[in-house]
Amino acid sequence: MATAHDKVERNVGLMIVLVIVVISIGGLVQIVPLFFQQSLTEPVAGLEPYSPLRLEGRDVYVREGCYTCHSQMIRPFRAETERYGHYSVAGEFVYDRPFQWGSKRTGPDLHRVGGRYSDEWHRVHLINPRDVVPESIMPGYPWLETTELDGGDIQAKMETLRTLGAPYSDEQIANAPKALDGKTEMDAIIAYLQGLGIHVKAR
Ligand code: HEC
Repeated sequence: MATAHDKVERNVGLMIVLVIVVISIGGLVQIVPLFFQQSLTEPVAGLEPYSPLRLEGRDVYVREGCYTCHSQMIRPFRAETERYGHYSVAGEFVYDRPFQWGSKRTGPDLHRVGGRYSDEWHRVHLINPRDVVPESIMPGYPWLETTELDGGDIQAKMETLRTLGAPYSDEQIANAPKALDGKTEMDAIIAYLQGLGIHVKAR
């Protein structure tokens, strides 16, 4: 006599439907609670949405493909925390859209690079890395220094981020183009780097 189990095993369609139902329930049980877990959805203390200058710098970082050699994700292992500092936590990335975690480390992780060097160090390093790190294989980005920011779409960018939850005020958005006046792409990317990972400190 065919049991219920036999029916499932002999009917591919039914099997597929049941497998989908079981996996969906398992997935929901794992994923849905994460939406309500504060430590994963709330910004860490002191974290602000990106200033106009840092936002432009972030776009330069993405455009230049820095993420193809640099991760921004310190894992909770001793070898990493001793080298880079406190491991990365979810609340540090709530205003990152998209996040720049990356998965390739040709160069060091950059998540806690903020404040590690002076602005001048970054300027020299980004123009020609070998001027400060002789054995470096990182390419130079000299054009950042001579390219003025085109802030034409900064307000649209901020408004888009606001619809996604970044708490920009009308005033901040209105003043954004002024904040970019006369700044170069180099100024922007340095501001971006200097603010990375500064809100969580190793105990
Ligand atoms: C081809 C791979 C590669 C690319 C692309 C690259 N880097 Fe690097 N980067 C490295 C390597 C290797 C080092 C380590 C040697 C050095 O300090 O120059 C490094 C070091 C750094 C450091 C110093 C980190 C520290 O803790 O000492 C910073 C900051 C940095 N890179 C920023 C950038 C930025 C910003 C970009 C994009 C504009 C970029 N890198 C693109 C390979 C790369």
